[in-house]
Amino acid sequence: MTNVNLIDHPVIQTKLTELRDFTTDHRKFRTLLDEIAGLMVYEVTRDWPTTPKIVQTPLERMTGRVLSRPVTLVPILRAGLGMADGVLKMLPDARMGHLGVYRNEQSLEPVTYYQKLPPDIASTEVLLIDPMLATGGSGSAAVSFLKKAGVTSMKFVCLVASPEGIQTIHRTHPEVPIYTAAIDRELNNKGYILPGLGDAGDRIFGT
Ligand code: PRP
Ligand code: URA
Repeated sequence: MTNVNLIDHPVIQTKLTELRDFTTDHRKFRTLLDEIAGLMVYEVTRDWPTTPKIVQTPLERMTGRVLSRPVTLVPILRAGLGMADGVLKMLPDARMGHLGVYRNEQSLEPVTYYQKLPPDIASTEVLLIDPMLATGGSGSAAVSFLKKAGVTSMKFVCLVASPEGIQTIHRTHPEVPIYTAAIDRELNNKGYILPGLGDAGDRIFGT
């Protein structure tokens, strides 16, 4: 599949396997999700442009490199919040926007209930984060919203994606790259990812 980056790293897979386990409680789940999100940043940001910057070491002046553009992190509420701290640990200068989107449990259609974005988001590199890409409805709605806000450079970062969700993002926003730690088999008739990890929001927040 084009425009999908599967981050198949042994340390991430070890943590993801523990996270999927139904006996993992919300405290441990939060810790693992935070750690995986931080590790994923390394791959997700690999092609970001850098700009030369002169630095004085204790011995010499030299030219280092720093990220060229500011970064905005946009978690899709609620479950995206579970990845935010892990990403922020690696990108501490990032600003944060929030998009509140939930799936109607019957229709599975996304319902947007909150949005607050930094005013200059259009001139930043945007990471849209949500652990689950299931039907793709929430992710696709969130990308549309960010495009309306002028965002031109964004990546969708999730933990577990379904083939159906990936197809939805490709169909609606083919230029947006998806980064995921796993591509699972399919959706069940309630829109849950199989084998998946259950309801990410409920597992993070203990609801
Ligand atoms: C979950 C998840 C995604 C969405 C994915 O959120 O965090 O946002 O479902 O499903 P989709 O790809 O079919 O749209 P949920 O709607 O459960 O809301 P919550 O995070 O508030 O629990
Ligand atoms: N949202 C979740 O939290 N889990 C799924 O499997 C699908 C959507």
